Amino acid sequence: MAKKQLVVLISGYGSNLQAIIDACQAGDLPAQVVAVFSNRKSAYGLERARRHGIPAEYFPLKPYRNMGRSREEYDADLATRVAAYEPDLIVLAGWMHVLSSAFIHPFRGQIINLHPALPRTFPGTDAIRHAYEAFQRGEIRHTGCMVHYVVEEVDAGEPIAQAVVPIYPGDSLADLEARMHETEHQLLIQAIRRLVEGQEIS
Ligand code: GAR
Repeated sequence: MAKKQLVVLISGYGSNLQAIIDACQAGDLPAQVVAVFSNRKSAYGLERARRHGIPAEYFPLKPYRNMGRSREEYDADLATRVAAYEPDLIVLAGWMHVLSSAFIHPFRGQIINLHPALPRTFPGTDAIRHAYEAFQRGEIRHTGCMVHYVVEEVDAGEPIAQAVVPIYPGDSLADLEARMHETEHQLLIQAIRRLVEGQEIS
């Protein structure tokens, strides 16, 4: 089977990007990361990509804002740059910029997002902290993470895979974050494997 081409969008540390690269290199995923984009210059994930010889592009929104250009123009230009790599699948792995239909439309059904919460709970930023605080208030017994298709509504597309992440009474927020990331690294690979080995993407 020909390897599927992945483009990964990140904004930060890139531990999930690293999990994808490692799984590709180990032969656990019939795929290769052909490019990485970040909207933040300081994102360590850019360095991870470069170390593996993967093209890594920093593509910030700020110059668009400074020139009075819209988010949609930024998203459309980002889509053009991403399309140049002819991805089969676009993976948002810690990408912290809400994409409009200017980006989503050309790739609909080919963009997936990792989110550190279960479907219909804690959309948006700081989901792990929100779940931790909800646990302290006795509102939830556990949290989780999911991989879902990207739609215009934030963290609301159809789930592809999800996993429960337990919270224990003595946990610090850092404990929960570490447990979450460990689960995410496995879940993301499972979800990508299902898509690249199945018929869901072109
Ligand atoms: C992950 O926990 C991911 O679920 C989250 O950012 C982190 C990135 O970690 N994404 C979101 O919150 C998106 N709404 P990483 O940079 O180490 O892969």
